[in-house]
Amino acid sequence: MQPKIKIAASILAANPMRLEDEIKKAEMAGIDLIHIDVMDGHFVPNITMGPFIVEGIKRITKVPLDIHLMIEHPERYINAFAKAAGRDDFITFHIETTKNPKEVIKLIKNEGLKAGVSLNPDTQTDSIENLLDIVDMVLIMSVNPGFSGQKFISRVLPKIAKLRSMATDEMDIEVDGGITPENISQVVQNGANVIVAASAIFKTNDPSSAIQTLKQLAERIVREEFHNRIHV
Ligand code: DX5
Ligand code: ZN
Repeated sequence: MQPKIKIAASILAANPMRLEDEIKKAEMAGIDLIHIDVMDGHFVPNITMGPFIVEGIKRITKVPLDIHLMIEHPERYINAFAKAAGRDDFITFHIETTKNPKEVIKLIKNEGLKAGVSLNPDTQTDSIENLLDIVDMVLIMSVNPGFSGQKFISRVLPKIAKLRSMATDEMDIEVDGGITPENISQVVQNGANVIVAASAIFKTNDPSSAIQTLKQLAERIVREEFHNRIHV
């Protein structure tokens, strides 16, 4: 059984010149998290946003932030992102970017934020097994990080299920990349509860109803599973 469903809107596919409007609209539609993709042009072949943008976003919304660091040397930047964000926001780093993940988690938690660790599609769960007791969230990438609008890699589904069986009931499992109304149910069935979407929200004609549809589909799976459980 997974914790409460949360939908995270990734602003990577929002209109950068109308970011405030796009975020406010998502907030009105009941979005649970604003997902901010931070890319350094080294770990991934793209460059996006830094602490300066995070600070600006923090000023205009009450929705918790979900900062996804796709950067080398994450330990160098935790302090700057933590200051720009706020207590209880998430900072997630990639396991592939550090030899000392426990130290990075400690830095995030010492700032009063929640710590997440992320795995690329080809990285296996044994790489983070020893961190499960100390992280708040594990993020499983369902595309190779770098760009929005890519196709969902379905071979990560068994990895989600394996992780849910290894994790405590309270641990958030997030999935990011290529999520659509067609595949969100599968992702939740396998045990994910935090679902990121960029294109499936901001590249539609009606982002508000896209958010509501994704949430309803995900919550329906959780309800069905609960129902099946008490009727076996
Ligand atoms: C990819 C980013 C994702 C991306 C998702 O590297 O981490 O958050 O914005 O975009 P969609 O939902 O369009 O695949
Ligand atoms: Zn992301």
